[in-house]
Amino acid sequence: MSRTIIVSNRLPTKVLRTEESLTFQPSEGGLATGLGSIYREKGNVWVGWPGLFVEDPAEEQHITEQLQQDSMAPVFLTEAEIRDFYEGFSNSTLWPTFHYFSQYATYEQAHWEAYVAVNEKFCQAVLALAGPDDTIWVHDYQLLLLPEMLRRARPECTIGFFLHIPFPSYEMIRVLPWRAELLQGMLGADLIGFHTFGYMRHFLSAVSQLLGYSSQNGQIETPSRTVLVDAFPMGIDYQRYETTAASAEAKRHEAEYREALREVRVILSIDRLDYTKGIAQRLRAFEVLLQRYPEWREQVSLIMLVVPSRDQVAQYAALKEEIDELVGRINSQYRTITWNPIHYFYRSFPLEELSSLYRLAEVALVTPMRDGMNLVAKEFIASKADQRGVLILSERAGAARELSDAIIINPTDTNQLAEAMHEALVMPEEEQVQRMAALQSLVRQYNVFAWTKLFMDRLQYSKIKQLTLA
Ligand code: UDP
Ligand code: G6P
Repeated sequence: MSRTIIVSNRLPTKVLRTEESLTFQPSEGGLATGLGSIYREKGNVWVGWPGLFVEDPAEEQHITEQLQQDSMAPVFLTEAEIRDFYEGFSNSTLWPTFHYFSQYATYEQAHWEAYVAVNEKFCQAVLALAGPDDTIWVHDYQLLLLPEMLRRARPECTIGFFLHIPFPSYEMIRVLPWRAELLQGMLGADLIGFHTFGYMRHFLSAVSQLLGYSSQNGQIETPSRTVLVDAFPMGIDYQRYETTAASAEAKRHEAEYREALREVRVILSIDRLDYTKGIAQRLRAFEVLLQRYPEWREQVSLIMLVVPSRDQVAQYAALKEEIDELVGRINSQYRTITWNPIHYFYRSFPLEELSSLYRLAEVALVTPMRDGMNLVAKEFIASKADQRGVLILSERAGAARELSDAIIINPTDTNQLAEAMHEALVMPEEEQVQRMAALQSLVRQYNVFAWTKLFMDRLQYSKIKQLTLA
C-alpha cells in the first residue's frame, strides 16, 4: 500500500523535559496544528524533530517508541545542530529574509554547513522509512534542500514540497550567498506549493533570474525535469474548531472568564512571540485607541496570548523585553482598581481554552507585518457559532487574499489600526453577521482536507504528466 511520508523540521508533538520526567504536548505553529488533522490517515508517517536535545540513548529509545505509537518517526538533533541549523540558518538567516526582515539576517558559513548536514540527516531518515511507492511530502523553509537530496537518491520518487512562509521578492532572495543551492534544492520536487499566487510569482521570478529556467503556466523546465508550481492557500480543520467551540468545556471556560471580566468587551490577540507578528505595533495602536477614544477606557480590554518561541535567538529575546515593557507601561498608565487594559499571557494554551477565548472575543486582531498564511484568523472565524465578531486582518498575511470580508489594514499604520478597532467595536450586529457568514462559508469549504486533496491530486497529475512526456 502506498503511504504519504510527511517531513517537517518540527513534529506535531513536542517532548518537554520537566525535572523528573518527559511530557508529550501538541506543538504550536500553523504547520503542526494544520497538518495534525490529516497525517494519521492510511498508515501515513510524520518524520521530524521532537523539539528537545537528548543525550541518553535509552531516553532516545523511549521517545522513539512513544512517538511511533502515534505514527511519528523522530529525527534527533545534537546541541550544535540546534544552534547552527535551527537557531542559526533556519531562524537567523532564512526566516528573517523570507519575511522581509533582512536587517536581522546573519550569513554564517558554519550555519550553512549545518543546514546542509541536517537536511542530509533528514534525507537518510526518510530513505530508511519510505518504500518505492510512497509519496514524500516535504514541508517548510528548514528543509529547502531535502527535495533535491531525495531526488538524487530516488530519481523516480514522487516528491511534493510546500512552503508555509512567504516567498519574498527576488530582491530579498538575491542577497543570500547560497541562493542558487536553495532554489535547486526545492526544484528536486515534482510539485512546489505556496499559500498565494504572489509568493509563487516571486519564486518563478527568482528561478528565472538566478538559474535561467523559464516557465509557462506554472511549469518550470529544468535541464532534467519539468516541475509544477502552484498556489494552495492552507485551511484549518474547520469542524474541529466549530465543535470544540460548542463544547461544554469551552462554554464553561468562557463563563468563568466572562464572570471575571464582568461587562468589559474583549479584543483578542494570539501569536507565537515573533517580530513578524506585529505585536509591539498592535500594543501601540491599542494605546492610541485608549487615548483617542477615552469612552473605551474601562469598557474594553485586550487579551493578548503570546506563545514562547525560539527564545535562544537574540531578536526574540529582545522582543520579549519590548513587549513586557510596553504592556507594563500601558497597564500602569490606564488601569483602574476594577479594570485592566491588557491581560497578557506568555505561555501556550490548550485547545479548549483557545476556543473559549475565540468565543468570548468580539474582535480578533491579526496584524502581522508578514505572515505566510495565519491560521489563527481562520480558527477565530470557525469558532463563531453566533456569527457575531469582527476580524481585523493585516493586508500582509497570506489569509488576506481570501478573507476579504475582514477589516483589512496596514499593520504599520498605527492610526488606521486604532480606527479599525473603534470601527469593529461599533459595527452594527447585522453587518457583523453578514461579514462573518461570508467568511465562514469560505473557511468551511477550503478546509485543510480540501487543501490536502488539491495538493495530492495535483502531485499525482504532475507524475502522470512526466510519464507521458518521457
Ligand atoms: N496555538 C496553539 N497554542 C497556543 C496558541 C496558539 O496551539 O497557545 C496555535 C494556533 O491555534 C494556531 C497556531 O498555533 O493553529 C499558529 O499558527 P499561525 O498560522 O497563526 O502562525 P505561526 O505560528 O504558524 O506563524
Ligand atoms: C511557523 C513555521 C513552522 C514552525 C512554526 C513554529 O509556523 O512555518 O515551520 O514549526 O512556525 O516554530 P518552531 O521554530 O517552534 O518550529
